[in-house]
Amino acid sequence: MSGALLDIRGLSVHFHTPEGIGRAVESVSLSIAPGETLGLVGESGCGKSVTALAVVGLVPSPPGRIVAGEASFEGKELLRAAPDSLRRIRGREIGMIFQEPMTALNPVLTIGRQVAEPLVTHLGMSRTEALKKAARWLDRVRIPSAEKRLGAYPHELSGGMRQRVMIAMAMICRPRLLIADEPTTALDVTLQRQILSLMVGLKSELGSSMLLITHDLGVVAQTAGRVAVMYAGRVVETAGVRPLFAEPLHPYTQGLLQCMPRLGAGSGRLHEIPGTVPAATEPISGCPFAGRCPAVFDRCRNEAPVLATVRLGRQVSCWLYMN
Ligand SMILES: Nc1ncnc2c1ncn2[C@@H]1O[C@H](COP(=O)(O)OP(=O)(O)OP(=O)(O)O)[C@@H](O)[C@H]1O
Ligand SMILES: [Mg+2]
Repeated sequence: MSGALLDIRGLSVHFHTPEGIGRAVESVSLSIAPGETLGLVGESGCGKSVTALAVVGLVPSPPGRIVAGEASFEGKELLRAAPDSLRRIRGREIGMIFQEPMTALNPVLTIGRQVAEPLVTHLGMSRTEALKKAARWLDRVRIPSAEKRLGAYPHELSGGMRQRVMIAMAMICRPRLLIADEPTTALDVTLQRQILSLMVGLKSELGSSMLLITHDLGVVAQTAGRVAVMYAGRVVETAGVRPLFAEPLHPYTQGLLQCMPRLGAGSGRLHEIPGTVPAATEPISGCPFAGRCPAVFDRCRNEAPVLATVRLGRQVSCWLYMN
């Protein structure tokens, strides 16, 4: 799509494992427009995180390898970029927020030092100046007595506070794109909502785009403008949030929505569709969902459908919609 901030085309990522080649991501195409929030959803293991890691050059290699595709970000090709230029892009032009702040934060460095770091590294700011700005950002993410917290260590903060610190770190250089991978999954429902609305508010203030990865459709309904549904390493449906919830096309998306206890309840776990996802190492000849699909017919087992535009703004990869 032209005019996209991030345009991923035909991305495939494989892992070489003792069980064989794991096709974690297969021919994934996604694009995010400036200012847009794209929700990326699907069951555990469907390739959401690997897709995001590939974009920022963080797929562990070995065992992982990007075997195909392109990802253009503001005209720069990311998948073939040198490690140095990716390091410059990460944290400056692309901010990242992960589920577990304890693994992303350095336990032996103060909060102030860590929040200020991107300003020093990427923007060449002096440490004093960067610390002042860090204090302002801690305040912006609603950490009480921000200035005093500069000297605190990660373990001295609660989980919710640590997640706020991560948000400050991810946003302090005003990135054009935020990648948030299950940013609120580890938190209780009330905190989840607070943190989500904080993220969304700051994102809009900065005018950034966001790739929001979650298995929780309630989170997507609250936050995203458009959704891409992944299954077994592939994108099986994309649509605007409203049309998707009003009329899911892919039988897998329909299953996911049926599994949601209540829209916006914030606990839409996705493990209740009968059957299991094929292993990434399992060869698939037809549609990867065929084995679990209530609407399966012969063609589905033998021929793989491709993602196709079936109506305005909607794409689906399903033989039900092709003639
Ligand atoms: N380091 C690795 N080595 C081998 N296989 C891997 C590795 N990292 C990911 N995979 C495989 O890639 C596939 C996609 O994993 P990914 O982490 O992207 O799933 P996910 O959709 O983010 O799931 P979750 O919702 O649990 O976070 C899985 O089959 C997983 O086992
Ligand atoms: Mg993941």
